[in-house]
Amino acid sequence: MIRIVIPEPSLVLLIGAAGAGKSTFAARHFGADEVCSSDGLREVLSGNPADQSVSRRAFAILHRDVERRLQEGRLTVVDATNLTEHQRRPLLRRAAAAQVPTIAIVLDLPANIVRSRNAGRDRVVDPDVVERHLATLRRTVDGDELHREDLAGIILLRSEDDVARARIERRPTPHEGGRSADRAPVTHRSADRQPGRVPDDESSTTRPNGRARNSTHTPLRR
Ligand code: CTP
Ligand code: MG
Repeated sequence: MIRIVIPEPSLVLLIGAAGAGKSTFAARHFGADEVCSSDGLREVLSGNPADQSVSRRAFAILHRDVERRLQEGRLTVVDATNLTEHQRRPLLRRAAAAQVPTIAIVLDLPANIVRSRNAGRDRVVDPDVVERHLATLRRTVDGDELHREDLAGIILLRSEDDVARARIERRPTPHEGGRSADRAPVTHRSADRQPGRVPDDESSTTRPNGRARNSTHTPLRR
C-alpha cells in the first residue's frame, strides 16, 4: 500500500498528461463535490470538455472556485493537467492566502500507457498534445521543479501498480484560514474539525503543520 496523507483542509493538485488517469484517480479517492475540473468547466461553458476556446474562462472560474473553497476551509482537488509552474502558481498562491497546505500527486506513468489509454477512450486528445504534455512532465519531474515550489508533499506515482496501491488518508488539521485577521470566523470549523495537534507519524508525507518533512520523488510505501 502507498499511503498518501492529506491534511484536511488542503489543496490537492493532480498532475499528469491527458490520459494519465487524473479524473479516474479523483473519482476513486475523492468526493465529486471536492473536485474542481477544468474539463468539467469547459463542458459547462461550451458543451464540450475539450473545447480549448473556453479554457481561459474555465480557468478563471476554476481559480475563483478554488479560492472560495480554500477560504472556507474545504478540501479541494484540482483535476487539470497542472504540468507547468505557470499553471500551478495561481493555485498555490490561493492556497497560501488561505493558509492551507498544497499536496501534489503526480501521475507519472510510462508514456506508452498514457498514449494507449488516450487512444482507447471516447474523447481522444490529439496525440501531439499528449506528446507535449509528456515532455513537459519529464522536465517538471526530472528537473526537480516541484521541490522548488511551496508544496507540503509531493507524491510521485510512476506505474499502474503504484496508482492501484495508493490509499488516501485524511488528517484533520485546524484551519485558521482567511486572508486577513478581520475576516469573519469560518462557521463550520469548530463543529466538524478536531482541534489540537494532529498525531505525528513517521510515514506521513506531511508534518502536522502541513509543511514538508519527507516530500519525496519516490512514493511512500508500507
Ligand atoms: N484508465 C484506465 N485505468 C486507470 C486509469 C484510467 O484504464 N487506472 C483509462 C480511463 O478509463 C480512460 C483513460 O484511461 O479511458 C484516461 O483516464 P482519465 O482518468 O480520463 O485521464 P485524465 O488524466 O483525466 O485525462 P484528461 O487530462 O484528458 O482529462
Ligand atoms: Mg480528466
